Amino acid sequence: MIVCKSAAEIQRMRPAGRLVADVLAALRAAVQPGVTTADLDAIAERPIRGAGGVPAFKGYHGYPATICSSVNDEVIHGIPSKRALEEGDVVSIDCGAVLDGFYGDSAITVPVGPVSEQAAELLRVTEEALHKGIAQARPGGRISDIGHAVQRHVEAHGFSVVREFVGHGIGEKMHEEPQIPNYGEPGRGPRLVEGMVLAIEPMVNAGKPAVKVLKDGWTAVTRDGSLSAHFEHTVAVTAGGPEILTTLDGKSH
Ligand code: MF3
Ligand code: CO
Repeated sequence: MIVCKSAAEIQRMRPAGRLVADVLAALRAAVQPGVTTADLDAIAERPIRGAGGVPAFKGYHGYPATICSSVNDEVIHGIPSKRALEEGDVVSIDCGAVLDGFYGDSAITVPVGPVSEQAAELLRVTEEALHKGIAQARPGGRISDIGHAVQRHVEAHGFSVVREFVGHGIGEKMHEEPQIPNYGEPGRGPRLVEGMVLAIEPMVNAGKPAVKVLKDGWTAVTRDGSLSAHFEHTVAVTAGGPEILTTLDGKSH
């Protein structure tokens, strides 16, 4: 069952989204060579608790941290550690928070100092693909229109879309129906209607799409060792079109 949100409920989701956006902005600013992913985790947890929120991932199926931090060939669900970021790395940072009973969920991939041309293009194309997907999140369309738009953009640039992990509905739970694959034919799946709130989250590999999960039970890496990027926003489907909730100004990035 897809839970649609009233205008009043979407109003209550804005602070959660805004909090996650603020935290990711602080994390982006903190990323530099020498910083550990555990440092980033601490930087994320403090303001969430300070705002009266709760980190959404901590304790979720036993996940131990506030953020997921996935470096280079790590796709998603990397666990923060003493690993220090190095110049030329790319780090995907995924953060979720619950505030006033509602979840916000968003991710960015950040270059650590200057990175290769390929890495920079992978980040740019993945973020663009997220926004192509978001543009489809309007009443009258179908869920698969989102993934179709993502896949077209990614593959036009010679990159590949991860199949094993998908976006999701979000609200009073972090993961609600429907699932939102980042690939597929358009015009399939549930119709998009006003009040749906969706976490759209393309994961894009520079090489082949296949991934595997490491022995820690969490970290997903590319099978071919290629770089991977991840961008995510929590988006409300409104009569006027998509509204990004996990952003600082309610409109753009
Ligand atoms: N953004 C991810 C998701 O929507 C984060 C989940 S990490 C977990 O699934 F640790 F909480 F599983
Ligand atoms: Co998510």
